[in-house]
Amino acid sequence: MSEYSDDTESEQNDSRRSASEDAPPTKASRRTFMKAAGAAAGSAAMGASAEQVAARTGVNVEKYLRDLTLEQKVAQMTQVAVSSFDPEPDEPNVPDSFGVDTVGAYFSELGVGSILSGGAKPPSFDGDAVVKGINALQEYNLENAPHDIPFLWGVDATHGNGLLEGATSLPQRLNMGAARDVDLVKEAEKHTAESTAAMGAHWTFAPTTDLQRDPRWGRFYEGISEDPLIEGEVSRARVEALESADRLTSTVKHFAGYSIPNNGNDRAPADTSLRDLRTNVLPPYRSALDAGPGTVMVNSGAVNGKPAHASSWLLTRVLREAYGFEGVIISDYDDIHRLMTNHDYAPDFREATKEVINAGVDMYMIGNGGDAPGPVEFIETVVDLVRGGEIKRKRIDDAVRRILALKADLGLFDRPTVDESRLSETLGGARETSERLAKESLVLLKNEGDVLPLSGSEDVLLTGPGVDGNGNNTRPLMQHGGWTLGWQGPSGGGPFPRQTLVADELRDRFSSVTHVPTSFDNERWWSGDQTDANGNFDFTDEQERNVRSAAPDSDAVVVVLGEGPHNEGFGDRDDLELDDAQRELLSVVNEETGDDTPVVGVMLAGSPLGSPETHDALDALLFAGQPGSDGGVAIADTLVGAYNPSGKLAFSWPRNVGTVPVQYDRAPPTSTGGSDNTALYEFGHGLSYADFEYGNASVSPGSVSDPSKQSSATVRVDVTNAGNVAGDHVVEVYNTQSYGSVLQPKRRLLGFERVSLDAGETKRVEVDLYLSALEVVPDDVLALRPKVVEAGDYELTVGRDGPKATLSVERTGSVTDSPLTPGRSRVGNGRGSGTKGLGNVFTRFRTGLNSE
Ligand code: BGC
Repeated sequence: MSEYSDDTESEQNDSRRSASEDAPPTKASRRTFMKAAGAAAGSAAMGASAEQVAARTGVNVEKYLRDLTLEQKVAQMTQVAVSSFDPEPDEPNVPDSFGVDTVGAYFSELGVGSILSGGAKPPSFDGDAVVKGINALQEYNLENAPHDIPFLWGVDATHGNGLLEGATSLPQRLNMGAARDVDLVKEAEKHTAESTAAMGAHWTFAPTTDLQRDPRWGRFYEGISEDPLIEGEVSRARVEALESADRLTSTVKHFAGYSIPNNGNDRAPADTSLRDLRTNVLPPYRSALDAGPGTVMVNSGAVNGKPAHASSWLLTRVLREAYGFEGVIISDYDDIHRLMTNHDYAPDFREATKEVINAGVDMYMIGNGGDAPGPVEFIETVVDLVRGGEIKRKRIDDAVRRILALKADLGLFDRPTVDESRLSETLGGARETSERLAKESLVLLKNEGDVLPLSGSEDVLLTGPGVDGNGNNTRPLMQHGGWTLGWQGPSGGGPFPRQTLVADELRDRFSSVTHVPTSFDNERWWSGDQTDANGNFDFTDEQERNVRSAAPDSDAVVVVLGEGPHNEGFGDRDDLELDDAQRELLSVVNEETGDDTPVVGVMLAGSPLGSPETHDALDALLFAGQPGSDGGVAIADTLVGAYNPSGKLAFSWPRNVGTVPVQYDRAPPTSTGGSDNTALYEFGHGLSYADFEYGNASVSPGSVSDPSKQSSATVRVDVTNAGNVAGDHVVEVYNTQSYGSVLQPKRRLLGFERVSLDAGETKRVEVDLYLSALEVVPDDVLALRPKVVEAGDYELTVGRDGPKATLSVERTGSVTDSPLTPGRSRVGNGRGSGTKGLGNVFTRFRTGLNSE
């Protein structure tokens, strides 16, 4: 891998030069520059030359590079976890393996470049304590470190600033996808940016840009969609928003292919094809990168037999050269060490470190668990590798230059600390936006006999673990999910983010609510008795007696079902069934209610749960995902019709676990023989209390002569609300038939638009199509050639089976060719391979990358 590193470096210098040609002449902040240059120029801006950084920020990065010792440089490449704000406690507060005793020594003895306050678990959940704590540590750092370089404080503000008591926990990522409202997500994430920056953090490890493919995986809820277009467009908007606040940068993660573990387990290897990678997996990251994130985090797993952290193909060839990313590449948590422990790939820490740094990682995220090598060992190892000539000094200088440029661009040299009064103005804010997003993200999966909406005059039996009240205050947990005041979500008993609760809100809307709690115990992750159901559920004899006594007299039953908050490996599941206690509850409710008593399910979960039989036990089912702080209001308003549901599934809901993965845009055949491996609820499914009808669809232009010159088209369609109530409707346009040189999916989404319509109203709606979604790799099995939209006729269909139009593409051409791609191809010059034939293969390979 290192035989190519000289080429790599000179090409990076070339792109830095070209970026500096576009730089504004006067000193301006990175924000000003990005605004002026447009978001697409963002990543180039992040990697600007040292002169440009100096002109923009007044910080002479090159001087630092001259003055710092090698040890101090590598310390800048070190991010180390803290769990305390006290730099000099009486008792040691860092792991034994770290080589120092106190948090303060990270600065005074090592001069580390960054702090990890990860797992959505700061040393305190009290906002005031956090902002003061970060400021005080920064002051300690500047007074005691061997240099005057401020640290970067990194957090996981992944769905709102869900780190502090009283904060707004935005709907989780799977909800963001269901809402199909890119502008609203952006508005919501601007609040995240303001609130996280006001807290004193400089960096959030968001957005997660991994496609949603496998619901067995414990991080399924962190994906926005299984569809690359939705995943990419929402991620792009999130980067724009997260980068919009002064003093905060974002992270596109986990590059690349983290979400397709071969057995559904966290950090298991991904086995995929180059075709799938290039057509589906990589494009969302690429869209997000266009918005100029300061950093990228690496996939903790492996792709086709290569750990991503050791993959110079992924990190250098694709990310740096083909995509032109010039910001900081950070490892995931302990992932140098994990090359030994998880992947069994490297024999020792030295070898693992060499691979990772040479592959392109600029900063190592060191966690605070177990006896993993700490900052001292990391720094010593890298220094030794440099002195031994196994890592080039230039590799270190490039990494440190990027890290210092990021700090300079964030203004940290000028103003290392924040105004402590600002946090209270923003903490818990954006209520309207968060409530609207929660509402738009709810998906009505079934509504037999139009039992919903309820009128409000019913006597309601409310039960199920999602509204549990069994004394340990676990009721709110299901609605927030992981990365909310804790890695695995909040703890029973709190503290909690700002929140509205389903039970409270339903009591406000119905004349009578009888609440029979069932048990849900969330205290399990550290005890070792983890269950596949992501929570320990029970339906006691007494609870059963209470349900049997209340159900027959009820006009309607609302059962709040689901799973507990979970995260990473702890959330992995082998089946997608609801646990026994919840199934038992449903059958008891059905036994005790007649046909005219609606049984309404609300599901709070980060994954699709329940077999077809379970769903049959419900007359209506509202999938609420993990709607966050405003979930209670959103659910209650929807059940009584004060809000008309409009969300659409952004993933395909499998019939059973054996059919996974079942994503809608896979190649045909999608169902074979006697087995029904179609989805139980299709991608794009979502009911409303109104009916929407389409008419007069047309596409303009109807014919595209060259997709490399014209990358979009517009479908116009009349949409009528034929129902009796107002509502939002998401108009989607799919390509549903086309022929080319490789398999075409039966359906692929090209564009979507949310529209609001009064009862009886008709609007002509314009849906902009992304022709990039039609790109294929037109090659045989190897899939090395440039991606193109192939010439031919493309049938377009509005919605599931609405009106059709045909888009003709006259000439084959590429849409996503990158202007940031270095023009020369030096790979395969024979040095590494030694054979002309292989060189040719690499040259073609490289050409193929240009069109990612
Ligand atoms: C996760 C990352 C996260 C990091 C810091 C890791 O375990 O994979 O997504 O940003 O922890 O908390």
